[in-house]
Amino acid sequence: MRVTTQKQWVLVWDLPVRVFHWLLVISFAGAWLTAESEAQQMLHYAFGYSACALILFRIVWGVIGTRYARFTHFIKGPTDTWHHIKLLFTGKSSLRFSSNLGHNPAGALAMISLIVLVLLIGITGYWIVKDYYGDFMSDAHETIANIALGVVIIHVLAAVIMSYMQKENLVKAMVTGKKQGTPSQAIRGPLNLVGIVLVLAWVYLMFVIYSGAIASITQ
Ligand code: HEM
Ligand code: HEM
Repeated sequence: MRVTTQKQWVLVWDLPVRVFHWLLVISFAGAWLTAESEAQQMLHYAFGYSACALILFRIVWGVIGTRYARFTHFIKGPTDTWHHIKLLFTGKSSLRFSSNLGHNPAGALAMISLIVLVLLIGITGYWIVKDYYGDFMSDAHETIANIALGVVIIHVLAAVIMSYMQKENLVKAMVTGKKQGTPSQAIRGPLNLVGIVLVLAWVYLMFVIYSGAIASITQ
């Protein structure tokens, strides 16, 4: 049997990962844009809780999803992560991760921080609604949201800078799901059905929260 080693476009991110990512971008941006207006309060809750629901989905997908979506694939210990970051800054890293098409350890670190931060924003938001610890909780919510925004800005800059350094458009890859690699590096399939169900579930959740139908979390 001949094994092809020539580079071609191979599927790396399944549809659920891509849908998760771009719906999270919409939810996070939506929550920011509606944060200060009382008239848009329900929309703020809907975007905020939907962001948390997406994160919960991603945690499950990190266990049962395709190859590069799995936590075991990209979460490395602190030593490996630090080593990788040091190599990046000293320019000694072989920036083309031909043997690894998934997240690099620095990207994984940003991802884990965002997962934790968005969940904390959601929990503190819920506690504001339930009137726990008054102003303290509002301050905590706003501070954590600001930290998350800082991480997002670094994350977006890193994605653009890494795209130039690796000579591979990582943002486009998060849209098409494809990167340059060998056929053996491809994932088993796009899992389109799961991605479509995720979109429908997000739309449904936005609608029920916005309409106030889940009163226990909005009042
Ligand atoms: C990614 C999600 C979220 C982000 C980025 C976010 C961001 C923010 C920010 C920046 C503020 C401060 C606005 C100001 O300047 O006064 C705020 C306020 C608030 N958020 Fe969120 N939020 C999110 C999710 C949630 C969730 C899930 C809830 C739950 C119900 C929530 C409830 C509130 C409430 C009640 C306030 C008003 C706080 C007050 O002024 O006392 N947020 N949010
Ligand atoms: C327009 C703004 C954004 C762009 C261009 C962008 C771009 C990207 C890219 C290129 C990746 C893949 C990185 C890699 O190849 O290792 C990625 C992953 C990720 N991004 Fe973003 N991002 C944006 C906004 C956000 C926001 C607002 C959040 C969260 C609040 C976020 C959270 C994540 C997460 C959690 C991952 C990991 C994806 C996964 O494996 O499921 N991103 N992003």
